[in-house]
Amino acid sequence: MSSAQAFHGIQACVFDAYGTLFDVHSAVGRYREPLGVAAHRVSTLWRTKQLEYTWLRSLMGRHADFWQVTGEALDYAFDAHDIHNPTLRQRLMDAYLQLDCYPEVPEVLAALQERGLERAILSNGTPAMLASAVAHSGIGSLMPQIFSVEEVGVYKPDPRVYRLAADALELAPEKIVFLSSNAWDAAGAASFGFSVVWINRSGQRAERLPARPHAQITNLRELPPLLA
Ligand code: LAC
Repeated sequence: MSSAQAFHGIQACVFDAYGTLFDVHSAVGRYREPLGVAAHRVSTLWRTKQLEYTWLRSLMGRHADFWQVTGEALDYAFDAHDIHNPTLRQRLMDAYLQLDCYPEVPEVLAALQERGLERAILSNGTPAMLASAVAHSGIGSLMPQIFSVEEVGVYKPDPRVYRLAADALELAPEKIVFLSSNAWDAAGAASFGFSVVWINRSGQRAERLPARPHAQITNLRELPPLLA
């Protein structure tokens, strides 16, 4: 389902990275054979624990960067499946630096550039992780700005993270469309004040959180027509 409500006066599109531009399951996707029947469950648990650890660390006031958190989440997922394979762990972490981007990403970024809209990433990822993923996908020239939570030392959905992008772009939050496939991130960004589009790639139900995205689409190709 997609709900199409046009936005007016938008000057920038700010993208979440993992799950939105980059397919987090493409790392395990390259190592299905050694992981066997556990592959899907390992990938899902890796992502679930990675996000839980960001939220928990933020609540605990114990920030560690996303590279460390990603590794600790993978350690949990391996342990939960009785996998003890340091070489495979290393390969999966390396793969996380070279995730596939979703197929429509380059063409959509080019269309936004054509229309004179600013483009940026705002992500939990470290600057090095994000630079690597962007380079691997060949979208560097289409994505002029990359903002990492490392600048504020706390994770999404803390409003300080969203503020970071609005301040750096020197735009009022409502002039920015924030895009995320992560429903909780879309809620956090809407609560902050961004104009939010939720990329609901897998037909999830709406979150019951205090702020809702302003529009919902199924992939990024549906974005340009929304920007009047
Ligand atoms: C990010 C996480 C939410 O890129 O996927 O910030």
